[in-house]
Amino acid sequence: MGVDVLRQGGNAIDAAVAVGFALAVTHPSAGNLGGGGFMVIRLANGELVANDHREKAPLRAHRDMFLDDDNEIVDGLSTASHLAVGVPGSVDGLLRILARYGTLSRQEIIAPAIALARNGFALPADLARQFVSNRRGFERYPASLAKFTRADGSSFEAGDVFRQPDLATTLERISERGRAGFYEGVTADLIVAEMARGGGLVSRTDLAEYRAVWRTPVLGTYRGHQIVSMPPPSSGGALLIQMLNMLEPYDLATLGRGSRDAVHLMVESERRAYADRAEHMGDTDFYDVPLGMLIDKDYARHRFADFDPAAASRSQAIGAGRWPAESPDTTHVSVMDGAGNAVAYTTTLNFGYGSKIVVTGAGFLLNNEMDDFSSKPGTPNSFGLIGAEANAIEPGKRMLSSMTPTLVLKDGETVLVTGSPGGSTIITTVLQVVTNVIDHGMDVADAVAAPRFHHQWLPNQIRYEPGALALDVLGELRAMGHVDFIEARAIGDANSVMRVGDEIIARSDPRSAGGAAAY
Ligand code: GLY
Repeated sequence: MGVDVLRQGGNAIDAAVAVGFALAVTHPSAGNLGGGGFMVIRLANGELVANDHREKAPLRAHRDMFLDDDNEIVDGLSTASHLAVGVPGSVDGLLRILARYGTLSRQEIIAPAIALARNGFALPADLARQFVSNRRGFERYPASLAKFTRADGSSFEAGDVFRQPDLATTLERISERGRAGFYEGVTADLIVAEMARGGGLVSRTDLAEYRAVWRTPVLGTYRGHQIVSMPPPSSGGALLIQMLNMLEPYDLATLGRGSRDAVHLMVESERRAYADRAEHMGDTDFYDVPLGMLIDKDYARHRFADFDPAAASRSQAIGAGRWPAESPDTTHVSVMDGAGNAVAYTTTLNFGYGSKIVVTGAGFLLNNEMDDFSSKPGTPNSFGLIGAEANAIEPGKRMLSSMTPTLVLKDGETVLVTGSPGGSTIITTVLQVVTNVIDHGMDVADAVAAPRFHHQWLPNQIRYEPGALALDVLGELRAMGHVDFIEARAIGDANSVMRVGDEIIARSDPRSAGGAAAY
């Protein structure tokens, strides 16, 4: 579909926005109208810009809203309830991006999504399977169950035609009225009614006041390349640059991908960067994030001064982190066009299928992004991430994200567009794609497919995909003091595009059967 838009004469921005709307129809686990996202854009004229359409805490939200009388987190409240829902940002963001940089009309861009929702499409096997595996979550909400099961209540099977008439009508309202078709009128009424049904906080005022924000991308350099990525409220760009800064003095290429020393080096950079994330990062509109310090090369040298090439350091011993459940929770699209425009776009409902709540009568899922706040400073969220004051809940504040839509430039040309889903593992996934290309000279297919590992300070644990750590390397890392390892089926889904000479090569991550491809 993105390719069709390019063939019709649209630019990379048109294609990314059209894919954004279509993903709400064809990739409901993460594509969305009821969630949020970030887009990093490089225009053919060299201009760099980022659009932040992250969800916001409703105006009635408050710091302790997920705590009980004993000041303990109420299990599930920030993930599986109407209170988990942040004010959606995707529709405003996509429309603003299109209006400023697109060349096709809103109606032309949204028409394919409307057709897919109205006429339906044959369900691929993975989507039918996801509907079944999420059924228990949907069962709590009649509109959700109705959407994701057949009319007789039985489960969809692969090949069934999946039609979404309520969603088609919502998309038509957006196509006709623009942002007013979502943030006002019938759609807003339906969202507010849904909130009333389950004690949620998103109000008409929240919707009317929601505005996506244009931000200046965060910039770094790495071995003669320019790194362009997402600033706060994402932690992704800053952490990516911070880790690259820590790695730059070392010869990763000679150490060898997957070697004991290379893995140790990367894990130690990840440990320090994620510790800084926990302390320092949040929404810059509310908190004074020391962004300049975090992406400074001298700071990285200082921060990494205690790196011991022969031994693991110890993560600060506070709280017990836990790893997230496997989940295709976010989705990433990378687009380049022939004119030189490049777009990295990551969008999410947080968990796969978000809160599992479909807005009755409007046909789209709501996010559960409130869990990305630090509900109780020092206590991990669903991704095992610890937060502090910087990311505490405040009315109207954006929750901290790990989404890392990223462009890599060389000699003024975009050479790589990348990003990934995966919660806390997004940033280390992008780090590995970037280092695979720059340090290890891999082509985009190999760079994306290569098995990955991840460390995030707390829990003090190395998570790795099969094949990422050879048996002898694992033993050597243990001997250095890396004690805790956990094997993961898959980390990330880094749909990426690379330019080699005049050729643009797109690579859909092989981890995602039927996931969002790099169009
Ligand atoms: N909800 C995942 C993230 O934004 O990092």
